[in-house]
Amino acid sequence: MTSSLELLQEREQRVLCRTYGRYPLAVASASGCTLVDPDGREYLDLLAGIAVCNLGHSHPELLAAMRDQAERLIHVSNLFYQEEQLILAEKLLATCSLDKAFFCNSGAEANEAAIKLARRYMRKVKGREAYEVISLAGSFHGRTLATLTATGQDKVKDGFAPLPEGFLTVPFGDFSALERAVSGKTAAVLLEIIQGEGGVRPLTDDYLAAVQELCRERGVLLMVDEVQTGMGRSGRFWAHQHAGLRPDVLTTSKALANGLPMGAMLCTDEAALGFEPGSHATTFGGGPVVSMVAAKVVDILLRDDLPGRAASLGDLAQGLFRQVQAAHPGKIVDVRGRGLMLGIELSFPGQDVWRGLLEAGFVLNLTQDRVLRLLPPLVVTEADLRRFSQALAEILEKTT
Ligand SMILES: Cc1ncc(COP(=O)(O)O)c(C=O)c1O
Repeated sequence: MTSSLELLQEREQRVLCRTYGRYPLAVASASGCTLVDPDGREYLDLLAGIAVCNLGHSHPELLAAMRDQAERLIHVSNLFYQEEQLILAEKLLATCSLDKAFFCNSGAEANEAAIKLARRYMRKVKGREAYEVISLAGSFHGRTLATLTATGQDKVKDGFAPLPEGFLTVPFGDFSALERAVSGKTAAVLLEIIQGEGGVRPLTDDYLAAVQELCRERGVLLMVDEVQTGMGRSGRFWAHQHAGLRPDVLTTSKALANGLPMGAMLCTDEAALGFEPGSHATTFGGGPVVSMVAAKVVDILLRDDLPGRAASLGDLAQGLFRQVQAAHPGKIVDVRGRGLMLGIELSFPGQDVWRGLLEAGFVLNLTQDRVLRLLPPLVVTEADLRRFSQALAEILEKTT
């Protein structure tokens, strides 16, 4: 790719639907934690394709797994037994307390599968007309009709009414509000352990433990959306493990195949009774290539203890950002997150700071208008984080 940014913008306007507000950057290639634009300028990637490339870009072992499998078998359909899916399922389930997997292609589809499973489990297994899914304000669960309805942000629903029935949103982190909302109609509570799009907002371990107890008492499924927090990013393999939860359903996607499209819904043997042959499916789900790449991702995360690395580098980064906060009183309101899922909340709209960082060669994201969100590859280095912190300090220095 050699076209300039202006040329790409002009061509895109002619041929693509206007669904994305793009950053003023085109990426021509990438390797490790470095993105390269069409002119050969390098950027430090602190976003990892929005929590996707946890092992960095162009990882040689993943490329080898992809190539090997592509030469053997790319697709046959879920009409056939495929050992690659089993290899992945066995590895993935060994990282958590869940028993069964359903593979799909994205985070929204994983949540869609979870919602369908919850409804069908209640109806067919428990014989109850319990179909409601309760989620939290500020959450993000995807863009299909069901998952955008479950999402606790109005902006994603704009213009799409009528929305499906059976969804309730309660205030973030307010246990009594959740307790009041659970009724005989509730099938499941769906939550992100740390809200990502919502501004890197962690739920407390106490809240999570109380929600789990409530779900058990009332016979409601506890479903954790680990699409963004999963696969080592939070400093544990799964973010719910910090609070010692045992969810009934877990969804994951983004980092699962490090950039190839894949999602998974994991559940207990009991919840899995909700599906039977024919009740849910997808053509590409668990295809041989993505499965073998994802299996390699799991191997490398464990072999190289990348969750542990995320935990220690995350602590280091928060320390660095707090030093910047202390040196610029009033400009940073909060530094938060877990592992390498980090938020720096500014006291003012952050567009200019974000743009200044991009111009200085740092790719990250601005969410909820004021929160600089960092989701770097878990192979980012201490030196990279120090370099970013220094640049942030310099830009804040100039910001009045
Ligand atoms: C927590 C969470 N759930 C679900 C999704 C939807 O995933 P996808 O865009 O792959 O459909 C996202 C995407 O950002 C997410 O962050």
